[in-house]
Amino acid sequence: MSNTADNITIERKHSHVEICLHGEVGFNGKTTGLERFEFVHNALPELALSDIDLSTTFLGKRIGAPLMISSMTGGYSEAAMLNKRLAETAQRFNIPLGVGSMRQALENSSYRESFAITRKFAPSVQIFANIGAPEISKGLTQSDLTILLELLEADGLIVHLNAAQELFQPEGNTDFRHVLDQLSTLTHTISVPVIVKEVGCGISAAVAKQLIEAGVSAIDVAGAGGISWQKVEEVRYTRQYGPERRFSQSALDELLNWGIPTAQCLLDIRDLKKERSEFSDIEIIASGGICSGIDIAKSLALGAHLAASARCILKALHEDTLEKTVATWLNDLRAIMFLTGAATIHELRKRKLIIKH
Ligand SMILES: Cc1cc2nc3c(=O)[nH]c(=O)nc-3n(C[C@H](O)[C@H](O)[C@H](O)COP(=O)(O)O)c2cc1C
Repeated sequence: MSNTADNITIERKHSHVEICLHGEVGFNGKTTGLERFEFVHNALPELALSDIDLSTTFLGKRIGAPLMISSMTGGYSEAAMLNKRLAETAQRFNIPLGVGSMRQALENSSYRESFAITRKFAPSVQIFANIGAPEISKGLTQSDLTILLELLEADGLIVHLNAAQELFQPEGNTDFRHVLDQLSTLTHTISVPVIVKEVGCGISAAVAKQLIEAGVSAIDVAGAGGISWQKVEEVRYTRQYGPERRFSQSALDELLNWGIPTAQCLLDIRDLKKERSEFSDIEIIASGGICSGIDIAKSLALGAHLAASARCILKALHEDTLEKTVATWLNDLRAIMFLTGAATIHELRKRKLIIKH
């Protein structure tokens, strides 16, 4: 990798964290949709609050709670400290952790430690490697896979689909040909499960069907309602090129707000799984705007196996309240389980949600 390309990658990763923490990068009026639902109260829960068990399984392994720390960072010096603190929290609650895109680890060995540090501080939790669709479309070699997986002793590989982000990114790679074919090859050759995620525009039922047929083990919907990555990249574009516009104002308004709300993705994929019984083993992760225990609970009742969060976790980390935030979310989740009479996560998934009036 040339020095210039290396500097651009470091600037990008650094800016992503800074813009997600301080920028106006939410959707305009578009929400996750989870707020439209409420649980049916159970006046006879027939259980003790202290008996509620938040543990569940993900990809065959028991985890402490149905929450995952979404893929975020790695690949520049400060990222090592962020990943260390995320890993400590994952270990403390025994919840899965994703690292940010590892493209740079493939291109340059200097920053590999900023990813590898997660395994040192989270020795016994599931940790997932991460790579983008543009790298998948070119095809990963066996040696690439060895680097990605061995660096973290990874429990699986997450592939992110981020067409809208790449479209807005000043240095974006918009060649998304052959991703599906290459994914299919990957799932048939790799030794660990493959999870596919979006980054905030959501995964439709039609795309979920293609991904499941290509052999993925889990899908993280990463729907709209949290961060608009188009907005994040638009901030970077404007910093570099000034107010010069690439799109008409009306298209820009539509594109910056592009995406399927998280709850809609969950409902559509739940219907798909009901129609196709052979898809029933595919595990679904709810993400995109998850920011409370109530969001986690509603996601599970809409068909998710677990929920995942990035920006709210990053904000809590920045404010030095990460462990307290996660503990509060899990306590909220416990409260909802009590009031719906669900002693286990398995039971909570069967609880009914109604549309609020
Ligand atoms: C600072 C930051 C960096 C991110 N980098 C990556 C990445 O490298 N790979 C990836 O798959 N997703 C990445 N994401 C996207 C998240 O994993 C997630 O899908 C998305 O932000 C939506 O979730 P949220 O609304 O909880 O933030 C990043 C998110 C944040 C906040």
